[in-house]
Amino acid sequence: MISRDTIEEVKNRVDIIDVISDFVTLKKSGQNYRALSPFTNEKTPSFFVVPAKGIFKDFSSGKGGDAFTFLMEHEGMTYVEAIRHLAKKYGVQIQEDQVSEEFRAEQSEREGLYILMNFAKEYYRNILSTTEEGRGIGLSYFRERGFNDRTLEKFELGYALNGWEKFSDEAIKKGYNKELLVKTGLAVKKDDGSSYDRFRGRVIFPVHNISGKIIAFGARMLGKEPNQPKYINSPETEIYHKGQVLYGLYQAKNAIRQHDNCFLVEGYTDIISMHQADVENVVASSGTALTEDQIKLIRRFTENVTVLFDGDTAGIKAALRGIDLILKGGLNVRVALFPDGEDPDSYSRKVGTTEFQKFLKENTKDFISFKADLYTSEIIANPIRKAEVIQDLIRSVANIPDHIKRTIYIQETSKKMDVPLSILNSEVNKILINERIKKKQELSKPNNSEPETGLSLSDIHELSKSFLYDPLVNLERFEKEFLKVLINFGMNKLESGEYVYQYLFFETQDVEFTNKQNVELLELYRSKIADGDLIKAETFIKLLPLEYHNYVTDLITQRYVISEGWKKHRIIVENEYVLSYALNKTINQLKLGIVMKMLSDGKERIRHAVEEVEIANLLETQNQIDKTKNFISSILGRVILQMPEKSN
Ligand code: GTP
Ligand code: MN
Repeated sequence: MISRDTIEEVKNRVDIIDVISDFVTLKKSGQNYRALSPFTNEKTPSFFVVPAKGIFKDFSSGKGGDAFTFLMEHEGMTYVEAIRHLAKKYGVQIQEDQVSEEFRAEQSEREGLYILMNFAKEYYRNILSTTEEGRGIGLSYFRERGFNDRTLEKFELGYALNGWEKFSDEAIKKGYNKELLVKTGLAVKKDDGSSYDRFRGRVIFPVHNISGKIIAFGARMLGKEPNQPKYINSPETEIYHKGQVLYGLYQAKNAIRQHDNCFLVEGYTDIISMHQADVENVVASSGTALTEDQIKLIRRFTENVTVLFDGDTAGIKAALRGIDLILKGGLNVRVALFPDGEDPDSYSRKVGTTEFQKFLKENTKDFISFKADLYTSEIIANPIRKAEVIQDLIRSVANIPDHIKRTIYIQETSKKMDVPLSILNSEVNKILINERIKKKQELSKPNNSEPETGLSLSDIHELSKSFLYDPLVNLERFEKEFLKVLINFGMNKLESGEYVYQYLFFETQDVEFTNKQNVELLELYRSKIADGDLIKAETFIKLLPLEYHNYVTDLITQRYVISEGWKKHRIIVENEYVLSYALNKTINQLKLGIVMKMLSDGKERIRHAVEEVEIANLLETQNQIDKTKNFISSILGRVILQMPEKSN
């Protein structure tokens, strides 16, 4: 572990202008710097660096932070990698806390593997370009597939001679030992202790890690020899974990960031052909099912994935499961389907660059439309099928962790399938609750000492409907929600002896309402309390002037919905846990509504600001508010996750 002192030291030395200038051409303007956003393809500069504060803010992508954040966002580094990078840049000696001998030995062994893999890559490349067999067989195969010189360079493609120990002999001659050859998977050990080359008479696709080091190889056969696998790949080694690697990411990462989108395909050749068609933001899972780690990897560069499906229906349904996993990973998924029998490789070569790009543009759909369209013909033939398709869509949507996005997709499904929103909402909720219960049960399996909840599934489901958080952030609605809780439950007592209204007021001391009616209702409530009246909802409502009746009817109706649910579970109304859940949700969503409003106001102000100093100040404020927003969202997320399940 890097020591705390080292991190501090690095932080002290960092000059954000200096760091960012390595990647972006900054223009001084006043005390600050401006540039075109390195994260998007913009025409007018909206990327700002404020050296006095050591921060940057990019308005076109919304990204912002300090020098570390910049390296993480722009270079896809982890926090530790960013520290190492900057330590090196500023000549800070890295102190490691408690590094064991084992760790050190492991590190140098890994280093050895990388060195040999690099040697192998160079060797295979050389064979491809300089030997008769390499040129005659390997190179002419690549040419046949339309790969040009630039591609061969970029992907460092090579060729392995057709012989049992050609590579091993060469490596050993250069001083690498046999053990290491086996450890890297370049050689395969036999029972009698001897070993032979894993890759023979095949073209070689090196697999790079994010920073460009070679960690594995894929080797494709040339002819159509029966009983031979088309591809032979490196086995798992200390430096190669198949499930944590995406082929092509190293060559794609800049383009992914620039387009803020990542295409996902199946194979080596799809990647390469797409590069030749000038689509460089593309990675492959290399024929295996996508993993969570691979999704996290993409997430370091973009939140948007476009999955490209080969045009054979057999593959599609299996691949659909991949979509759910991507959604679960918090990414936005779009989908494009190629014509029957075509994959990105064949299709791009068939129609050429312009047509291919046009095809992608015109055939990319969001995953809801994709799934819906996929089943359209089945639904027409058999309307009962529609229910199943809706279920299927809902199961996908339920994977999306973000409330706001989930809501948007529920709306999309509602439109697309022509089903009422409320039904979809409650169905999605049902799935989420079931999952939560399942998870809980799994957690408490070993010692099943947890008391029963006393609530049935449908009880919880029913209850949850009244708690449904509609995240289309709408400040006025949150104010109203707040009033609703205040008016209906203000006179309930909490375990602490405090009244609910006291709690609500205390938690929102510096909050000002925006909607006039809301302001007046709140004032009226406050004044009644100040008069020493204990007001029940019914009484309060009767006190209101006539012009409020329409508005208030709504409050009462809403209350009716809530109280129906609550009445049914009397136990719960008295349950402190449930009540405080509702209170915290109300308070925090109101606060979230407020900061969202502040953010959008701030953006507007920055757009109109002219003075550099003013812009800098606004930027700083904006960053602060952004932090607050994230903080509140995380609390709110937790509150909603803690949705009550039990009743003492
Ligand atoms: P071409 O047939 O040359 O176009 O290759 P491709 O890369 O398009 O292969 P294909 O579409 O058949 O398969 C997609 C990916 O699955 C490949 O890129 C490989 O990563 C993987 N794959 C295909 N066949 C094999 C195999 O026999 N063994 C292993 N381990 N992986 C394979
Ligand atoms: Mn192919």
